[in-house]
Amino acid sequence: MEIKNICCIGAGYVGGPTMAVMANKCPDLNFEVVDFNEERIKKWNSKDLSELPIYEPGLAEIIKDCRGKNLYFSSLVDEKIKNADMVFISVNTPTKTSGIGAGKASNLKWVEACARQVAENSKGHTIVVEKSTLPVRTAEAIMTILESSKNSNNSRSKQISFDVLSNPEFLSEGNAINDLNKPDRVLIGGENDQAVEALCKIYKRWVPEKKILKTNIWSSELAKLTANAFLAQRISSINSISALCEATGADIREVSRAIGSDSRIGAKFLDSGPGFGGSCFKKDILNLVYLAEYFGLPEVATFWNAVVKLNTWHQHRISKLIIKKLFGNLSSKKIAVLGFAFKSNTNDTRESASIQICKDLLDEGASLSIQDPKVSPEQIEIDLNLAMSSNQNKNLVNKNNSEGCWEYSSKIEDALLGADAVLILTEWKEYSNIDWLKMSDKMRRPGWVFDSRSIIEPKKVLKSGLNFWRVGDGVI
Ligand code: NAD
Ligand code: UGA
Repeated sequence: MEIKNICCIGAGYVGGPTMAVMANKCPDLNFEVVDFNEERIKKWNSKDLSELPIYEPGLAEIIKDCRGKNLYFSSLVDEKIKNADMVFISVNTPTKTSGIGAGKASNLKWVEACARQVAENSKGHTIVVEKSTLPVRTAEAIMTILESSKNSNNSRSKQISFDVLSNPEFLSEGNAINDLNKPDRVLIGGENDQAVEALCKIYKRWVPEKKILKTNIWSSELAKLTANAFLAQRISSINSISALCEATGADIREVSRAIGSDSRIGAKFLDSGPGFGGSCFKKDILNLVYLAEYFGLPEVATFWNAVVKLNTWHQHRISKLIIKKLFGNLSSKKIAVLGFAFKSNTNDTRESASIQICKDLLDEGASLSIQDPKVSPEQIEIDLNLAMSSNQNKNLVNKNNSEGCWEYSSKIEDALLGADAVLILTEWKEYSNIDWLKMSDKMRRPGWVFDSRSIIEPKKVLKSGLNFWRVGDGVI
């Protein structure tokens, strides 16, 4: 099973960076990344690298090196499948919004469409690799679709054959290139040793062999969902304790340090914040909840569902707290919102805590001035489902209007101008370096700084005469 030509269906946050790094590590192999979203493909092919559809540190440099040599982006899905020895399925698998399992199960229509496209277009032997995060036993459905194409009465169908592997992706956004260059592990699940070895051979070029884990295909599929569930569970756990810290005079940073020093617990993923966001944690836990219910394990389902419920509660807790500190009234008040992406170093806003918290504040009539170094106003408009106000800056606060409104500020200082409060929601580095003595002069008094990411030194804000709250700090 010699692999020369690789096709990846889905040029998103996973498909794009993953294939870019693979192409960079394997100059002798050819990588075709395909997507039916022509607009996205156009951006991947843009000469101006600042126009790539995804912002990820280090990505533009790799694209510059490999694009046009052994890495190509196109919307010719069928044609590129025809030439491929290996096809990665890297398409979206969002939560179903209707039908059986709505609100929990993953919508697999895009994955199924890929399997059908491969079935209709492949030639010879093709290894199909699940890169998307999928419910356990999806490989079975993919194989059934692929195998059914062998029953056709044409000459192609007599010559085609398939293997299906599971090779879930563990990259985290904002750190994707690093994660792909030096993964903690690569997981390959499959039944046919030769096919597993063919994929293994690709990774072995830059990943030490001991980090390549081979499992059966169902373990691989379930391990991906479980990894995300465990990570999200840590965040809900620490966020739940942050509320207790605020009530008791403890400090979540000290509690995190104390528990994280236990090598069995470990220090990572113990930062209390505004609640986890991102396209996957909630979706993958809900998928796990659905699977547990499907297999008649309601206690397992309830256990994992609590992780998502706590996250939603925590986001509303922060909104309520801000409203209370601002005398229970947000109309005629301007709040500078710093950060809209679900974490720093990405332009991704999917499931960002900022969306829910901003909506809560808008419901109370607040005027929000939103700033983010990488998120566009168009994206914010979509996420808030509310058009941007035409009254920018000083005129933003309309005293006669009890409905919330928002504006986009390209500079931090513009967002702060005349603001009653500043709310930090994403941990962008520039927000931790704000000169509060200087900036506080631009704000109305009494002014507040709410730091949901713990990136600000309290003394610096308090010295400027502003009030300060940060998550999990019962001491201030
Ligand atoms: P995405 O929405 O950014 O990208 C998916 C792309 O697939 C889209 O551009 C869409 O147009 C394209 N697509 C869908 N069906 C297609 C078809 N039949 N033919 C051609 N193109 C098609 O999604 P993503 O964030 O890259 O996630 C992809 C998968 O990887 C999901 O299952 C997700 O859970 C998983 N995952 C995501 C991350 C992450 O950090 N975003 C990390 C690990 C795993
Ligand atoms: C996460 C996992 O970390 C990846 O391993 C996985 O591949 C990916 O999901 C996926 O399957 O999509 P990602 O969502 O990109 O990656 O980012 P994380 O760093 O995990 O952060 C998720 C959310 O948790 C963010 O909102 C972040 O701010 C928050 N978080 C993270 C905290 O609030 N505290 C922490 O200590 C860590």
